[in-house]
Amino acid sequence: MTHHQKGRLVVVSNRVGPLTDEGKAGGLAVGLADALKRRGGLWFGWSGETSEEGTFSEEKTEVFGGTAMTTIDMTEEELEGFYHGYANRSLWPLLHYRLDLVQFDRQSDRVYRSVNQRFAARLAPLVTDDDLVWVHDYHFFYLGSDLRRCGYKGRLGFFLHIPFASPEIFMALPGAHDLVHSMLAYDLIGFQTRQDRRNFVNFCIHELGGHKLPGDRIEVGGRIVQASVFPIGIDAEGFARFAVSPEAGEHEEMLRDLARGRLQIVGVDRLDYSKGLVERLLGFERLLEDFPDNRGGVNFLQIAPLSRSELDAYIDLRAELEGLAGRLNGRFATLDWTPIQIMTTGFTRRALAGIYRAARVCMVTPLRDGMNLVAKEFVAAQDPTDPGVLILSRFAGARAELMDALIVNPYATDEVARALQRALTMPLAERQERHQAMREKVFHGTAAHWCESFLTALESAEPEARLPADA
Ligand code: G6P
Repeated sequence: MTHHQKGRLVVVSNRVGPLTDEGKAGGLAVGLADALKRRGGLWFGWSGETSEEGTFSEEKTEVFGGTAMTTIDMTEEELEGFYHGYANRSLWPLLHYRLDLVQFDRQSDRVYRSVNQRFAARLAPLVTDDDLVWVHDYHFFYLGSDLRRCGYKGRLGFFLHIPFASPEIFMALPGAHDLVHSMLAYDLIGFQTRQDRRNFVNFCIHELGGHKLPGDRIEVGGRIVQASVFPIGIDAEGFARFAVSPEAGEHEEMLRDLARGRLQIVGVDRLDYSKGLVERLLGFERLLEDFPDNRGGVNFLQIAPLSRSELDAYIDLRAELEGLAGRLNGRFATLDWTPIQIMTTGFTRRALAGIYRAARVCMVTPLRDGMNLVAKEFVAAQDPTDPGVLILSRFAGARAELMDALIVNPYATDEVARALQRALTMPLAERQERHQAMREKVFHGTAAHWCESFLTALESAEPEARLPADA
């Protein structure tokens, strides 16, 4: 980089760390750890712990190389209202187009806003106006405007890792106008896909009376904000190296031994209703029904680490999945073959890379997903001379780049079954060709590239830009 970097990078997100590559972290942490390791700075967020009011005034700071991680606790009430409540019972289902699962509750709305305020107030003394403050994800929509109210005048960016729903859906949120209005405090707002950006811009235009300006900018009530698309990526080279590590090799071999010549299908997702796990199992069942040659010849392994497991929607989903897998196994199993294995155990990223490499097919079939980094990691982990096939939902953000996957509508069971059959029988030359095309995308649009593009745009944004009063 030739331009000089004035301030530090200050990242704010609900979950902080790990900065080590062994983490079982979700997509957000994987992308950010990479970025901070390269730039240095401060990562600020929740400690993952609760404590009584009054005792939580203490911050915890750990330093790794050039990066400090500073976290604060929440109270039990905050955890319930902010994290379980508004973030994961209201916003998460809403932004994933699941109005059937959305619960609105004014108490959790209040707690969500007050947690945003409290985090902003705790962050304010730790930043200077020369820093670049970059806020992440749906936990902290209001934090930017709260930080401004605390007096911060430097550059302020926001990136939404999950989808931004179309205004038709988004308008169901009580206080939708307030929320989007508060987002205008950010100088730059990043989205995963053009569709997410379009949904946001349309909301600003049709609901808040805004206008498009040249570039990626929009103007709402005199305030000018840039809204752009930055598809998140992975550390592709790092992950490809994981795939040939001894730990990966052990897992690859274990899985191949277990499969005894059968073709392996894998899925790796947090156990979440947005991931289309039930539909995926039904697609696999349809494969066994409609293409019976596969009976006894394929193994389906679903790795599904538990998350948010206190919430009813997640408890119900787990029971449904386990019931379905049990039913399918009961129906098709033979003495020497169990078609489906579901595990809630998490694996290290090296182990996962080995598992991906042992798989002939990877199913990434969410009903809605911001990006989905499993799709990219699967591609990066493959042996280019004998690569596996990616089946990818048309509703995953990754679809915009990974068009050479087998694209499916995850709701269409027959289509999923046909894609599975096609993947399992795909000739080597076609597998190589598709993999090569996807590999180029994954190795080009890396986490580092994502981070640098966002920060370059943020550095050139004008803080708190407004239209001249006489315009
Ligand atoms: C998604 C979200 C992240 C979140 C992760 C894990 O990737 O975009 O913000 O951290 O899921 O969910 P959890 O609720 O366990 O943090």
